[in-house]
Amino acid sequence: MKAVILHGGQGTRLRPLTHTGPKQLIRVAGKPISQWGLDALRALGVNEFCIILGDNGAERVVDYYGDGSKWGVRVTYVYQGRARGLADAVRGAEDFVGGDNFVVYLGDNVVLEGLEDVVEGGDFNAVLLARVSNPNRFGVALVEGGRIVKLVEKPKEPISDLALVGVYRFTPEVFEVIAQLEPSWRGELEITDAIQRLVDRGREVRFRVVQGWWKDTGSPEDLLEANRTLLDRYASASVASETVSSSVEGRVTAEEGSKIIGSIVRGPSYVGRGCVIKDSYIGPYTSIGDGVEVDSCEVSGSLILDGASLFHVRIVDSILGANSKVYRRTAKPLGSKLVVGENSQLGLE
Ligand code: G1P
Repeated sequence: MKAVILHGGQGTRLRPLTHTGPKQLIRVAGKPISQWGLDALRALGVNEFCIILGDNGAERVVDYYGDGSKWGVRVTYVYQGRARGLADAVRGAEDFVGGDNFVVYLGDNVVLEGLEDVVEGGDFNAVLLARVSNPNRFGVALVEGGRIVKLVEKPKEPISDLALVGVYRFTPEVFEVIAQLEPSWRGELEITDAIQRLVDRGREVRFRVVQGWWKDTGSPEDLLEANRTLLDRYASASVASETVSSSVEGRVTAEEGSKIIGSIVRGPSYVGRGCVIKDSYIGPYTSIGDGVEVDSCEVSGSLILDGASLFHVRIVDSILGANSKVYRRTAKPLGSKLVVGENSQLGLE
């Protein structure tokens, strides 16, 4: 089975984190968002992937996934730059797909349930749906008599509370209908409209309503929620870091090459490689990337990305971007001394 992972988009709501790279590469609970999808598909036997690259940090995606051999799969790339909508992005995979059925996975979605329904089986189209309280944020499907009869992208008038989760299965016929699409009111070729055309042609679009958690990680709050859920589900007690006079409690995954000194680390949490955590408390639901330095701090419920450093601060439910530095000043005049990037958010004590 082949899968197409969409890795484009501007990630506007996640600025400044996305000023330097695509949102799908933000590492949550030890893995980039898009890798949670790739790994879940791989576990179901998908071994050929095509990643559709956007114009934000495409080279970093290629650097990270390479040819896929690290994970025992084949990864190829299509550089699309700024695609005009998801259907336009999917179109880039036509040569890769050939005449096969295939899965499309939006690289910013984390879906923990129901993937087998889109991976396994013969010639059919399928989607995953989930009940949501804010259907105007999604593509939605109207189901009647056990069939999908209508789909609308970001409906102004509610037609249903069943949102399209960002995972789809298509037959190659989808390329024919994409070629006939007109841009939507937001100027995009919508994948939702392509599915509507398949329905209009009388094709059955199978569906499953996902009951459990899933997330479209578009905002900082979404990322923190994904971090909590993924740690809750996947953190294991596995400490390969060096620990000195420290207490590591519960499900803490701490990678090789890090040092935890005079600290308490409480799970579920994740600590990457090459970190130094000294005289600090790392509370539950914290993910720390590679090469992070934490000295005399309390950190919980937070996502600390690669190369960040924290000194003498208490931080909750926060996201610190790569190579950022947060510290307490002791020199006079006191007061917060800030260099804050565009679109940053700071909640000071
Ligand atoms: C996209 C799709 C939408 C789907 C959603 C799932 O929305 O257009 O139909 O419900 O992903 O995450 P977007 O992320 O472009 O707002």
